[in-house]
Amino acid sequence: MLDKKKHKILVLGVNGFIGNAIYKELYPYFRVFGTYSTPNKASEKNKQFFHYNHEEDDVVEILEATKPSIIISSLRGNFATQTIAHRHITEYVKHHNCKIIFISSANVFDAYKNYPSYELDKTLSSSIYGHFKIKIENMLMRLPKSKWAILRLPMVFGTGSPRIEEIRTQLKEKTPIEVFPNLIINVTTDYKLSQQIHYIINRNKTGIFHLGSTDLIHHDEFIKEIVGSLVLYNPVYKQVYTTNDDRYLAVLPKDNLLPKNLQIQSKDVLKMSIL
Ligand SMILES: NC(=O)c1ccc[n+]([C@@H]2O[C@H](COP(=O)([O-])OP(=O)(O)OC[C@H]3O[C@@H](n4cnc5c(N)ncnc54)[C@H](OP(=O)(O)O)[C@@H]3O)[C@@H](O)[C@H]2O)c1
Repeated sequence: MLDKKKHKILVLGVNGFIGNAIYKELYPYFRVFGTYSTPNKASEKNKQFFHYNHEEDDVVEILEATKPSIIISSLRGNFATQTIAHRHITEYVKHHNCKIIFISSANVFDAYKNYPSYELDKTLSSSIYGHFKIKIENMLMRLPKSKWAILRLPMVFGTGSPRIEEIRTQLKEKTPIEVFPNLIINVTTDYKLSQQIHYIINRNKTGIFHLGSTDLIHHDEFIKEIVGSLVLYNPVYKQVYTTNDDRYLAVLPKDNLLPKNLQIQSKDVLKMSIL
């Protein structure tokens, strides 16, 4: 349904891998604004795009200029300044007719090794990155539930994704491709994720979403399948063992399920990554 008036959406990190996929999916249907931090001609010309560096600028200025009804946060960079930015965003969301969709990560569970994680499991991380994501999640969860959606992602692939491009480069340069034989993961693509976000917006869904494939796969098996389908060069692998036993880093959906057509399996991720 074309209803450009329905929402004004601000994508923080619109030129990033995930931010850009979200932008492409949403802009035919909504008024979509975006922020970029690396200056470039195309973004400077685009009146809907704003330069924003969370290490230097106040996000509130962008919020006041764009007055979004939905903010999608897909940023990377300095954790301290990202935290401050999200504190300001939380305050803004609290006092305006506005919601936030925060792109989080399976790493909020990276201290658990023995099982995959579900939406309502308690978060626990042993990495700085995971800790940082938990901090922002907890900040947002203090808002009324109608005002936030937290999307926890596993590794994101897709044609042209940085992860696939890195493998292509490693194959060409004959440098080792890291695989983790003990690591059990789930996976997704930027394209499927964008469709899921579109649905979450259209249906006004909120809460915690685990947006990984519904099945699990060993990291080395998945990467080797990708490499096998890219053929061309003989791969060199570097096997990385972080534990003796199998270890999980997977976010499975259970309580906040999306419709079947919006779910994905690892074999589809593979197909959609090597087109
Ligand atoms: N990719 C994955 O597999 C994956 C998995 C789980 C979760 N995530 C999460 O998804 C989100 C997006 O990741 P991504 O893979 O799309 O990363 P990405 O391609 O590196 O994009 C990051 C975005 O952040 C912006 N940015 C970086 N430093 C900034 C700064 N100082 N001020 C303002 N903006 C800044 C970049 O802007 P410019 O491009 O203009 O510099 C870019 O748009 C992240 O929060 C990440 O934790 C990703």
